This record gives sequence, structure tokens and C-alpha cells, in this order.
Amino acid sequence: MELKKEKFMRGRALWHALASIGVMLGGLALLSGCSGRGVVSGDKWEKHITEETVYIEGVDREYTLLFITDTHMVVRGEDVSAQEKENEDLRFPEFVNEEGVPSAEQFPEWIRYANETEVDGVLLGGDIIDTPSAANLQWLEEQLAGLDVPWLYVNGNHDWTYPWEYMTETGRETYLPLLQTFTQGGKAVQSLDFGEFLVVGIDDSTNQVEGAALPEYEKILEENRPVIVMAHVPFMTQSVLAKAREYWDSPAVIGGGNYGGIYPSEDSERFLTLTTAGESPVELFLAGHVHFYDRDVIEGEKEVPQLVGGAGFQGNAILIHVTGTAK
Ligand SMILES: [Fe+2]
Repeated sequence: MELKKEKFMRGRALWHALASIGVMLGGLALLSGCSGRGVVSGDKWEKHITEETVYIEGVDREYTLLFITDTHMVVRGEDVSAQEKENEDLRFPEFVNEEGVPSAEQFPEWIRYANETEVDGVLLGGDIIDTPSAANLQWLEEQLAGLDVPWLYVNGNHDWTYPWEYMTETGRETYLPLLQTFTQGGKAVQSLDFGEFLVVGIDDSTNQVEGAALPEYEKILEENRPVIVMAHVPFMTQSVLAKAREYWDSPAVIGGGNYGGIYPSEDSERFLTLTTAGESPVELFLAGHVHFYDRDVIEGEKEVPQLVGGAGFQGNAILIHVTGTAK
């Protein structure tokens, strides 16, 4: 226990050390002296927006990215099977905010917020819909069609699964293709190019990084442009592992297998090595899945900050400011 505590402290200390060299991620509080967390009133409910700033050397202007994950929208469909109806009845009440507003009703407010505030991009971190039902997919498509800004969508473990076809071959063949509209044709590596930096989407919705993603990921990293990675399942940090163990009965982060995390596959291990290599251009890792907010660093040759978004269905989002540092 003592050893782990010591390691945790070292992680935090490194975090602070990074601040002085300008690649550190920090809450706005650090910059402005005011709280980085804020609430914005919607018509019937309050958005809980956590603001974070990532400093990337050489970036010329400030960009804002709205990161939303785990909204788990359930839109009740007509003409659904008894099995689907039973699942919807069970899951629908789970995904409401504290004001009792169902997640699918909250989502248009985020679209409006993104358009009105003219963020530079919306990043959707998976489990945005709770199942790939026809009603969910249609609702999602309609909502995203209303976004006036670029967006990127990675799959979570729920977007393309039903409880009765969870990660099965049949599920993969039948439902995964339905998400292709949202995932740039179902590519293993997606990207959103902001010129000065890239946001790269990686599918780790099966709790492992797809091997097919690695060659292209490697190629992108070799470009040596700053990269923000978005995936669904977080990688292990001391903080997220400890909290995930407390919140969930099953392993919920990749890495730290001996301590209750998921043992990484060879591909996930390789992905992690590339991401945290000394010369890696990855400046930030975004994830969701665990339904609580967290901020820590993924340890490696390079310490990569990881931000984990709280549950979208509870009205949470992270507003990320990307800004430059002096060269
Ligand atoms: Fe989720």
C-alpha cells in the first residue's frame, strides 16, 4: 500500500513539475484564480462544465473544444421487439440528470451551446447512445446534423452493443457498421485536423486498442504535429485506477492488471508505448467510460496528461482551451 501511495505522490509531483515547462494541463483556476467548474443554466437543467487548459508549444491562437462522453441516450422506439422494449424500460430511467431530464432531451441543449458559443470542435467520447437501436441512431444523426462546428465521435462499449449481443461476433457484424456514419466510415484511427494540432480518435471500446489502428497511429505521430488523443476507455493512472476500483466492481481502465485494472493486450501495450514515448507529440489523452471526472498523468518516458469526463447524462462536459506557449 505504501509503495502505491508513494507512486501516486510522484505522479502528482511530476504533474506540477510539468507546469514549469509549459506542456502541463491545468484547470482554469490556475490561470485566472477562479474556479474551473461552472454551471450554465439550460431551460430546465444546469450544465456542469469543467474548464481545462492545455498548453501546446507553438499554437498561435486559443481553440475551444467541447468534450462530452457517456450520455447514454435512450430514445424509445416504436415497433421494437419485446427484448428491446424491456431493455429501454430498464435503462431509460437510469440516464437522467439530477433535475430528472432524460439524457436524449439534454443533448439538443449541448448542440445549441456548441453552436452559440462557436467552439472550434465537439468531441464525443463514446457511449453517447446506450444501444444501436433505430430510434437512437436516427436521433443521433439528426442532432449531429444540427451542429455547425466540426465534431469527432469514438465508439464506447455501449454505442454498438445490446446486453444480449455484448461484444459478440454477431453483434460486431450486425451493429458496429451502423455506427460508421459517425466514425468517419468506421476507421480504426480517425482525425480532426486543426492545422496546428490534430485530435485523433482511437477505438478502444472493446477494452483494448485495435491492432489495425497501430500503423496509422504511428504514421500520424511521426508527422510530429501536436496530438490530442480521444478514446473511450481510460488508460491507467494512479488516480483513475483508485477511483474506478471504488466505483465499479469490474476492471474499468486499461493497465494496472495486478491492481484491479485490465491487463493490456500486446496492441494496447504498443499503443501506450507509442503514446508515452520520449519524443511523442501526444499532449493530452481524453477518455470517458468510468462516469466520473478525473485528471492525472499517464506515466511513461513522457508523462501524458489524461482527462476523464464525468457522465454526460448527468449534465457534465469539459470545455478544453488549447492555447500556445512561447517558443
Ligand atoms: Fe458509459
